[in-house]
Amino acid sequence: MLLRVDFNVPMKDGAIEDDTRIRAALPTIQFLLDREASIVICSHLGRPKGRVAEEHSLRPIAAHLQLLVGEPVGFVGQTIGPEAEQAAQALKSGELLLLENTRFNPEETKNDPDFARALAGLGEVYVNDAFGTVHRAHASTEGVAHFLPSAAGLLIEKEVQYLENALADPARPFVAVLGGAKISDKIGVVGSLIERTEALLIGGGMANTFLAAQGMDMAESLTEPDSYSVALELIEIAGEKLHLPTDAVVADDFSTEAATQVVEVENVPGGWRVLDIGPQTLESFEREVAGAATVFWNGPVGVFEMAPFAKGTMELARAIAQSSSVSIVGGGDSASAIRQAGLADQITHLSTGGGASLAFLEGRQLPGLAVLQA
Ligand code: 3PG
Ligand code: MG
Repeated sequence: MLLRVDFNVPMKDGAIEDDTRIRAALPTIQFLLDREASIVICSHLGRPKGRVAEEHSLRPIAAHLQLLVGEPVGFVGQTIGPEAEQAAQALKSGELLLLENTRFNPEETKNDPDFARALAGLGEVYVNDAFGTVHRAHASTEGVAHFLPSAAGLLIEKEVQYLENALADPARPFVAVLGGAKISDKIGVVGSLIERTEALLIGGGMANTFLAAQGMDMAESLTEPDSYSVALELIEIAGEKLHLPTDAVVADDFSTEAATQVVEVENVPGGWRVLDIGPQTLESFEREVAGAATVFWNGPVGVFEMAPFAKGTMELARAIAQSSSVSIVGGGDSASAIRQAGLADQITHLSTGGGASLAFLEGRQLPGLAVLQA
């Protein structure tokens, strides 16, 4: 069995900071073990861009997986090649082997067919359970499925069920909250959410671009001038549905030691930058969320890794968890805010995919899924 998972977990100094994605793959691994499969597992970690980099090695993840599964997990320091072949060959029924980071090979992200064929040679059946990576047409998520009989794993099945059931015909009002730094990679989903929701709340760096596009001086705030014209079009289409911040926490430096103050978004002082939504915006966002029957959230509304700018995101997480709505949260940062607040069990579905859940919502074809259905 060749199993693709998404073990792209946050790491710090060789230690796993959050193993949610590894745990999320356990049902499929257990399912296969119960049926006495021998399992060759592959994943990417980070964006090493085709170069071998120790900090992106999957070796520490093999050790952690072994603890979680309670069975020995072998590790081989290459993705394809003679060592990987030998180790895969030697694998007996009920045994597990983890290959080195697929992205140490430049062929992976190019979806190179020769690389995909070599990877396929390590198994007889391909199972993709890497929901977080289904929006990528890479060799290990798409190419390989052209060479082996293929199926989706249990995590993908569950994610798709939630996203489809809750969001295709959502209980209304359906409110979406989008944050994060950039709008350039979220324009498609903003357009789709405007059509599908009753209210779209936007915070984080991406809100600055919408405000600046309307002529507001955002001073030192992060903005994307290349996206102003599309931002204006979206504002026009959205009308009343779009809720942008009306006030903000601004700082005179990008630092936890910076001086801060709350200002109306029209009044960002020269030399200052927006790093969180303000209390008035938070209150209005909380009100929208409290009245919703379905909430989808992706992306922090401020720089929540820095304590002085965490309030908007953490309070929003609480409001979403406490609402009686069907709540779906996607994206590493939003999910980690939910977990930090100890609210994970109050969310209907915490997705393991950020970009993937957005691509799904946007209605884009997901190459990693499409190839399994073909
Ligand atoms: C993610 O973390 O969003 C997935 O693992 C995909 O990673 P990528 O954005 O580097 O392709
Ligand atoms: Mg990502």
